[in-house]
Formats: sequence, C-alpha cells, structure tokens
Amino acid sequence: MTSPSSEKEYHALAEQILEHDRRYYVEASPTISDVEYDALSRALRAYEEKHPDQVVPWSPTRKVGHTPASEFPKVERPVAMLSLDNTYGEDDLRAFYDRVVKGLDGEVPLFSIEPKIDGFGIELTYQAGLLTLAATRGDGRIGEDVTTNARTVHGVTPKLRKPTDIVVRGEIYMTKAEFAEVNEARDALGEETFKNPRNLAAGSIKLLDPREVAKRPMRTILYEVVDGERYARGHLASLDLIRDLGLPVSQHNSRAASWEELHGAVVSWRDKRDELPYEVDGLVIKVDEFAQRATLGATAKFPRWAIAYKFPARQVTTLVLELEQNVGRTGAVTPVAKLEPVELSGTTVSRASLHNWDQVARLQIGDGDRVLMEKAGEIIPQILAVTEAGSGERFTAPTHCPSCGTALEREEGKVVLGCPNRLGCPAQRLAALEFFGSRGQLNIDGLGEKLVAQLVAADLVRDVADLFDLTVEPLAKLERFGKQSAQNLVTAIAAARKAATFSRLLSALGIAHVGGVVAKLIAARYRTLSALRAVAVAKPSAELVAELCEIEGVGEVIAVAVDRFLRDPHAQVVLDKLAARGFDPEEPVAERATDGPLVGKTLVVTGTLSRPRGEVQARIEAAGGKIAGSVSKKTHYLVAGADTGKTKLEAAEKHGVPVLDEAALEALLTGAPVAD
Ligand code: IVH
Repeated sequence: MTSPSSEKEYHALAEQILEHDRRYYVEASPTISDVEYDALSRALRAYEEKHPDQVVPWSPTRKVGHTPASEFPKVERPVAMLSLDNTYGEDDLRAFYDRVVKGLDGEVPLFSIEPKIDGFGIELTYQAGLLTLAATRGDGRIGEDVTTNARTVHGVTPKLRKPTDIVVRGEIYMTKAEFAEVNEARDALGEETFKNPRNLAAGSIKLLDPREVAKRPMRTILYEVVDGERYARGHLASLDLIRDLGLPVSQHNSRAASWEELHGAVVSWRDKRDELPYEVDGLVIKVDEFAQRATLGATAKFPRWAIAYKFPARQVTTLVLELEQNVGRTGAVTPVAKLEPVELSGTTVSRASLHNWDQVARLQIGDGDRVLMEKAGEIIPQILAVTEAGSGERFTAPTHCPSCGTALEREEGKVVLGCPNRLGCPAQRLAALEFFGSRGQLNIDGLGEKLVAQLVAADLVRDVADLFDLTVEPLAKLERFGKQSAQNLVTAIAAARKAATFSRLLSALGIAHVGGVVAKLIAARYRTLSALRAVAVAKPSAELVAELCEIEGVGEVIAVAVDRFLRDPHAQVVLDKLAARGFDPEEPVAERATDGPLVGKTLVVTGTLSRPRGEVQARIEAAGGKIAGSVSKKTHYLVAGADTGKTKLEAAEKHGVPVLDEAALEALLTGAPVAD
C-alpha cells in the first residue's frame, strides 16, 4: 500500500479504514487480514505526517488522544437516561407483561428481548455524522463528557456512514477474556485486581490519560436511539438503522409477540448467557413501538415500557480438599482452597482464592467442609459460606512463610500477610524470575513457569541476573530440552537484552506498585538504573523518597517501595550482578511534545544541577524542546550548572548562545519571559 497522493485519496483511504473497522466491530466479519489492515493504517499515517494541516478530525488515527484530561466536564442532557426496574423471576415477568397489556387497553405489543450487558451506560451524540460528544450516564440527567476516552473504545466510530444527526445510548464493556488478561497483568504487578468487567470498564473510561485508556480493550454495544420515533416506527427498526449507519448493535436481540414467545425467549437464555464472550447479567425486555411506549409513559425513575429481567446467580456446593498457602511475587501469602472439581457456569472450578486470612477466619473454613460457591456477576468463583463443616481442622493464618520459614508480617491497616524475606525467599525468587521474562516485561520468549522451575531446580539460575550467563551446553542437558530449544532460549535472552529499556527493566524487577507506567515516569527522570542507584547511595531513604515523590504520578507508597527495593540486601546482590554483566539499559528520550514553550528550541544542558540531569532534560523535552550534546550555532540556550566546563561556555559566547542558570530555565519552562 502506497501512501495517498492527494487529499481526495487521503479521505478515501480514511473512509476505507473506518469501513474495515465497521466490518470488524459491527458486522464481526472482517474482509481483510490484520496485516493488510496495518498496511492501510501505516499508509494513512504516513500521509498525515506529511500533511498535518489536512488531517480530518474523524481520522481513524485520531482515536488515541494525546492530551491527558484534568477533569471531565459535566454535561446536562435534555432527555434523562432512566434506569430500569428489576425483576428476578417468572412471576415478576408475568406481572410486567400484564401491566403492559393492561396499559395498552388489552393490546399485546411486540417486545424486543436484549441481553443486558454488564457494563456501564454511555450516550453518543453525532452531528452531521461526526461524533461530537460521549457522555456517561451520571445521575441520569447530568453526566460527564468522556469524548476523548470514548474514541478509543472499539465500535465508537468517529464518523457515521451518512451525515446524520442522532443520539444513541449503549453500554461500554469488556469481554471476559480481556478482563481476565488485564487482571492477570495487575495481579502480577501486585496491584489490586478488579472485581468484575463492569468496574474495570467504568474505571477505565475515567482514566485521565487517554493513552492509558487505549490500553484497556473496551467495546460498545448500542441499544437505544434517543427520540427514536424521528427515525423509525419501532425500536428494533431504529436499531437496524443505526447498525446501517455503522454502529454496533447486539446480534442477540430477538422479538416476541405473545406471552408464550416472551417466556420461551427468556428460558432459552438460561444456557446461552455463558456462551457469550462478555458478561450478561440479565435481559432487557422492551415494548418495541414508540407510540405504545408513549402511551405507557414512565414513573419518576423507570419507564413503564421496559424491564430488566435479572438472571439468578448460579451456585453450587463442593468439598474443600486442602488449603494452599500461596506465596506471590510481592511476598503476599494468600489462602487458596483446593476443591473437589465442580462445574460452575461453564467452567470447571478446582481452586478458589479466599483472598485473605480474615476471610478464612470469618468463614471458619476447614478440611472436608462442604462450601457454597457462586459465580454471579463475578468471573472469579467465590466461596460464600460453609454449608456443612467437615471433621478436619479449621484453617488459621500461618505465622511463618511456607517457603522460607521467615516470620510473616502484616502491613499496618492491611489484611495481607507478607513474607518480608523478599528475594531471600525461594518462592518469591521463583515468581520474580518468572515475572522478569514474562510478556509485557523483558519478554523472553519461551521462558515460562515450567522452564523457570527447571532452571532453578538444576541450579543454573538463582536470580534474574543469572539468565544472562546461560549458555547452550548446560541448558541442552535439561530434561526434555534439546540443543535447539537451548539455542532458542539463549537467543531469546540476548534479543530481550538488546530490546530492553530502563523502564522495562525497572518494571520487570517486580517492585511492588511499579508497573509499566510508573516505571516510565521514574525512568524518564533517572535514565538508567545505575543513575537511580547512585542517588540511593548518595542520599538517605527519606531524601530519596521525597525526590521520587516529586515525579508527577509517583506517590509516597510507590516511592517507599522503590527505596525499600534499592536498599534490600538481596535485591542489591541481583542489581550488582546485573551491573557486572553490563546490563544497564538507557531509557530512550520520549517523543518530543509538539506544543509547549520550548517548541523549536535546541538546548544543551551541562554542569552540576540541583536535580539529575536526565530529569532536567526530560522536562525540557516535555516542553517541546530538543536536547543536544554540544553547543553550536544551532543551539538556542545553554543551561549551565555549577562547574560548567570552559569549552562549553566559550562555544556559547562564540555563537552568541544565551547561557541560562536553573532559575532562568525554570522561567522558560513555565513560559515566563527571560531576561537575557
Ligand atoms: S435500555 C429506559 N437496554 O442496564 C431504558 N439498558 O438499569 C434504559 N443495559 O442503565 C436502558 N443492556 O446501562 C437498556 N439492552 C439494554 C441494556 C441496558 C444493558 C444497562 C444500562 C441501563 C441499565 C438498566
């Protein structure tokens, strides 16, 4: 695919990509491969880079916003988003049906039956076919403007297929698989996991940085057209219309024209709900015809023409076989019940986390108990209660680490019991190794849980630094590990090493609370691990913590965790070993900002400053400036700290480059005028 050669071709290509998005997210039947799609996107991007003045606001490349929001403005809507009355059983459903028929003077209406996706409500406004506003439900009348973030949601097209004015409502959600993936990644980082896809989606749409939002794979399904009677006689016809306009509508909506059909449709959903890739907590049943809806009207809170039919939560009982004490990467020792395998909403459950030891005490659970389990809105099976106590002993919280025997500690105010032995604890060491190589960290191909265990058992590896010493020969001797696999692993480690950046390394080290984003913030300030460690040597804990807290986005909890890690004797051994192997990757300089007081300016920073030079440079770059290593006639400013070398000062004088001290730089960064 070559890049478009005219503005007209550019528009056509942008339209073409939106059409492929539609085929993928609306029709679920793509007509090109991912590779072809990527080629089209690249061509579009190439054109936009060359002609920034021609970029259309609805371009598919504009989906990921770049400017973090500071807040979400409130928006008031003329037509309130009502919520629905809930029903739980067939009797309730029959009562709703009878009420509707009575309200329509005995006429049986056409009903639509739709899956009630467990996400959160959104309203999209299109003007002349362009997305102009995406607002949350809020309290119904007043919602929040989340347009920038909503653009990153799959299915929220920036441009309809026709220049229509229309307002639609729907649900933003996450699939069960994507939910599990996000949670696994968080769990691996020692971060708190989300309870269900709804909480995750709702939390994600309100993240302030749209680039972070784009990393959370959200989708949408639309289910109402506001003022639908302007477009069609009935609701289902209005949904057909928006589907033709390019918006995703559920493929599982059905219709019923009698009580028998309605009842039959509800019954048929009992099994179907587990087959969907997303969480469905019930059905929404609506009167189809807009005129009939108007006749029925609404109460203060709910429309009389629709109802939510909630599925019953599914529960089973099973036996507790044994209690496992799981030592996680961050040292948290959590109770996990091993269960007699049992079927629960489509999956076989054989283990269930009890989350923490307070929960164990509350449940008074023990070996041989029969327990009641539920997997309702929650994807994760929960043990609700002991229904029949077994003869086994009641479980109690351990006092010592099951892996290394160290006395466990409880963080103040927290329910988590932790092993403070960190990398001195074999279980934590194993988990740390596994994490180090995992996807999203150093990304060492083939280094999975089993292989890590094998490497440790064979004493080939004790910590992450040892990975860089691995050679083919001893590896090839491992059980079920041929010469080729050995070679592959060595190659993969070398490749990962080459691709590593400081932030990757920092997050891969598995410091509590330091995920990819935080690692990037820290890396932008210090540039290398050796630079960060040097500060830890030069400054006492309190000062390092305070310095880390100066980084926007880094709070005290994170700062303390980093400081602790750097001073941990076991960690220091590993870090020293990494350094001895010459592994100290540099953080690449972030892409230059396109706006800011220093756009178009080249600066040289030299001498000893009150803050690490890397940080000063990062701030200049964030303000749009460029960093150069030596002073030339192209340099706009020389930022000179204490003991600046004579050569640089002379060069500045020769080329007429103004020399700034830190205060003057500060003034420049904040946009204040500088006295030369
Ligand atoms: S219609 C007045 N249809 O469930 C009608 N809602 O309490 C308003 N929901 O807030 C909603 N799937 O977030 C409708 N097919 C569907 C739905 C649906 C999920 C959510 C929605 C609403 C809540 C109802």
